[in-house]
Amino acid sequence: MYNIKEITKDLFWAGANDRRLNLFESVYPVPDGISYNSYILIDNKTVLFDSVDRAVSHQFYENIEYILKDRNLDYLVINHMEPDHCAEIAWLIKKYPQIKIVCNQKSQTMIGQFFDFELPQNQWNIVKEGDILETGHHTLTFFMAPMVHWPEVMVTYDKTDKILFSADAFGTFGAIDGNIFADEVDFDHRYMDEARRYYSNIVGKYGTQVQMLLKKAANIDIKMICPLHGYVWRKDLDKFIDKYQRWSVYEPEEKSVLIAYASVYGNTQNAAEILAGMLAKHGVKNIKMYDVSTVHPSYVVSEVFKYSHIVFTSTTYNMDIFVNMEILLNDLCAHNMQNRKIAIIENGSWAPSCGNLMSEMISKWKNTEIIGNKILVKSSLKQNQVQELETLAKEIVSTM
Ligand code: FEO
Repeated sequence: MYNIKEITKDLFWAGANDRRLNLFESVYPVPDGISYNSYILIDNKTVLFDSVDRAVSHQFYENIEYILKDRNLDYLVINHMEPDHCAEIAWLIKKYPQIKIVCNQKSQTMIGQFFDFELPQNQWNIVKEGDILETGHHTLTFFMAPMVHWPEVMVTYDKTDKILFSADAFGTFGAIDGNIFADEVDFDHRYMDEARRYYSNIVGKYGTQVQMLLKKAANIDIKMICPLHGYVWRKDLDKFIDKYQRWSVYEPEEKSVLIAYASVYGNTQNAAEILAGMLAKHGVKNIKMYDVSTVHPSYVVSEVFKYSHIVFTSTTYNMDIFVNMEILLNDLCAHNMQNRKIAIIENGSWAPSCGNLMSEMISKWKNTEIIGNKILVKSSLKQNQVQELETLAKEIVSTM
């Protein structure tokens, strides 16, 4: 049975939710599911903006067939060629053999890599920055957005209704629960953390490219944003755009301390807990602690994007950084993390070495300062080290 949602009088959501997916991109847990958004414009010409992931193809077919009824599908605009949005291109071509594909050169190359079909030259509409497509009442303009998230990404602007089809930008993890507009749900409480986790892990590495897209967006009048995942924005756009502004320049949202610890027998955790208590006594609010062995790194990466000060606390393992802490730090380095204040606590029973190794990794982060001296715990924290921790707590607070 079809399940569509009206966005405007001639624009419809034709996507679907996947609530059974365990790991998005085989990496990220999505406990609240994920939506794959596809939009269809019914004008003199009909236009589909992206398709969906193969996992929800059946729902997609029902939606498209219901909306179009006996009309042809004239255009498929491909904003993003990642398979969670383009899996159904071959089905669309088979079903609507006269369809024209509207995409950029890079997407055309990728289509050749992902699919085997041949399409006559006159069914390709290859677009460049600023190119326009008239569909009757609507005028669509295409803007390139390379690396927001893949190199071929572009966004489409409907000048008539002032709608931006933003590809992965402004998306969120989490299925759409009936409502389609962000202003119809308590987005701040229910979805903002997942929007940050989505941003930081999916496009967080590409802050510079997101900045370029935001600059382009600032020059057009946008009344609605239709992303490829999550809710459609028609109110308070500035609030969400401001989040993107901060995230893309790695500006922390919370002036507080996040403590990420890796502890095998609890002694490293003990040092982290005592430091957290000292920080609280010094008036630091909203301190957060994460055991990197029990929390998926994508959640901690997201929180590192949020917090100004991070304490990495790890035990030495195989003469190296403890495995789950190393995964987290590698992930943060890969995401181009920067602009943070860091403190380090290391533990080791006979040859502590993870402190220097962690410093080495973090020293590559731009505009990042390591506060105070590393604290070395030998097996377990002793009374005579409490002062050292207190000094570190004061040094952290002095930089806030
Ligand atoms: Fe939702 Fe980059 O794909």
